[in-house]
Amino acid sequence: MHPIIISGSSRNDGNTTRVVEILSNHSGWKYIELNDYQFSYYDYQHRNRDDQFLPLMRNLIADYDTFIFATPVYWYSMSGIMKVFFDRISDLLTIEKPLGRKLRTKKMAGISASGGNDLEDLFWLPFRESAKYLGMDYLGDLHVKMNSDHDDLALGMEEEIIRFIEKLKIRYAQNHFRQHL
Ligand SMILES: Cc1cc2nc3c(=O)[nH]c(=O)nc-3n(C[C@H](O)[C@H](O)[C@H](O)COP(=O)(O)O)c2cc1C
Repeated sequence: MHPIIISGSSRNDGNTTRVVEILSNHSGWKYIELNDYQFSYYDYQHRNRDDQFLPLMRNLIADYDTFIFATPVYWYSMSGIMKVFFDRISDLLTIEKPLGRKLRTKKMAGISASGGNDLEDLFWLPFRESAKYLGMDYLGDLHVKMNSDHDDLALGMEEEIIRFIEKLKIRYAQNHFRQHL
């Protein structure tokens, strides 16, 4: 299993990064911040083909087999930067089809952060269904409630993250085994 955590907050020192650091520390998995890259929203004419999206995607696809998307909850949805990233995956269905086909061998998971605990399963629909559309295995997701007063995780959430890591490892192994039957 070679996962990369793809963090999609609008700041690199906020709650999502805190969650990502804990996930990374307990698993040893690396992470990147989408905020560190320059890429613009989807363009039907692909005039943005020379921005940093395609090089980033090429590297992620070459080096990792599991993409763990980490997003804050902004207006009951994934963050804007993460949605732009997902929209740009459409480049891989149009001008970069060979690269897009390589996603079929990959796996996806999601982790979210907010001060609330009011997310319904539908929050994960764009991740789950995008994975299905792209031929990726969806390994699961976790919402992490933050303690807004202290800018830290709510009680018990670090343990939830540790359990989540184990769950992802098991699901990865099960899917891997099924694929090679
Ligand atoms: C633009 C924006 C929209 C937000 N919308 C929601 C929301 O719909 N539900 C919620 O529980 N929290 C919402 N929040 C709070 C964030 O989810 C919460 O503070 C999160 O942990 C921030 O992560 P960050 O520090 O990585 O940005 C919002 C925050 C921002 C900045």
